[in-house]
Amino acid sequence: MATAGSLQQRDYAGKIAVVTGAGSGIGRSTAKLLAQRGAKVHLADINAESVEKVRDEIRLTGGDAVAHTLDTTDADAVEVFAAAVFAEDSAVDLLHSNAGIGHGAPIEDTTIEDWRRVIGVNLMGFAYMMQAFVPRMLEQGRDSHVLNTASMAGLTPSAGMAVYATTKAAVVGMSEALDAELGSRGIRVTALCPGIIDTAIVKDSTMRGRIGARQDKLVDFYRKRGTSPDVVARQALDGVKHKRIIQPSPYHQVMPMWIVKRISPRAYQALNRRVFKLLFPAGR
Ligand SMILES: NC(=O)c1ccc[n+]([C@@H]2O[C@H](COP(=O)([O-])OP(=O)(O)OC[C@H]3O[C@@H](n4cnc5c(N)ncnc54)[C@H](O)[C@@H]3O)[C@@H](O)[C@H]2O)c1
Repeated sequence: MATAGSLQQRDYAGKIAVVTGAGSGIGRSTAKLLAQRGAKVHLADINAESVEKVRDEIRLTGGDAVAHTLDTTDADAVEVFAAAVFAEDSAVDLLHSNAGIGHGAPIEDTTIEDWRRVIGVNLMGFAYMMQAFVPRMLEQGRDSHVLNTASMAGLTPSAGMAVYATTKAAVVGMSEALDAELGSRGIRVTALCPGIIDTAIVKDSTMRGRIGARQDKLVDFYRKRGTSPDVVARQALDGVKHKRIIQPSPYHQVMPMWIVKRISPRAYQALNRRVFKLLFPAGR
């Protein structure tokens, strides 16, 4: 007989999920957890090899997944992807827009191309996903949820991360505005705000200047101290279940600075300046 625990494990049975950036890190973990809990998952990633590998891993454990190669910065491709998902399944219960890239550099070392590339993936990629999927989800005849991966950097932007923080604060704003707009029409929205997570993102990030000079140390730090993306996946689905607008993950990394900032933006900013000076001392 099924126990309460095993019923909980299958709370996505019969549901359809879409995850971008599913080939690695947080997207891979949420995709696998969703499949384990019974969802059919449409996995999308720019990296065909990695997304097919995740599909095979899911199928090997008895889950249901379809792999799509997708560059979320291509609006037409995102539209074709949404059309394909709806042609196959006619509804999406959970849309996890997650594909993203990192960037760290002092402003004088940042290039215009950096701004364009990071905004292209981390902001426009999310905009294209909303435009392609949400109107279809509004018409599908059943309630659904959008889970957007923002970041702790979207709540408490750090020095040296102006480009990245811009995109992540935008995703928090996008999610809050859409939740307010769509809540009464059957779609709730959660902005997932991960802290320091042990994924490939730091290794693959563009880092320049005195931040780039310490990229190896940062990679090491994320590997040793970073939280597992599996923990983020569980907290993300908990946020969806409880219809949270902001889902920090893990709490102990995200909450302290966010609380300080809400109480005193001035104190937060003083701390922010000090940490940057300590971690990345400048010549002057
Ligand atoms: N790792 C962290 O510490 C951390 C913290 C806060 C937020 N995040 C956010 O979490 C999300 C997932 O990152 P991650 O840490 O799992 O990194 P990751 O590098 O392990 O995974 C990101 C995935 O996105 C894919 N991707 C990149 N550009 C794409 C594009 N244009 N189209 C489709 N797929 C694309 C990559 O191929 C990769 O598989 C990102 O939005 C990131 O900004 C990560």
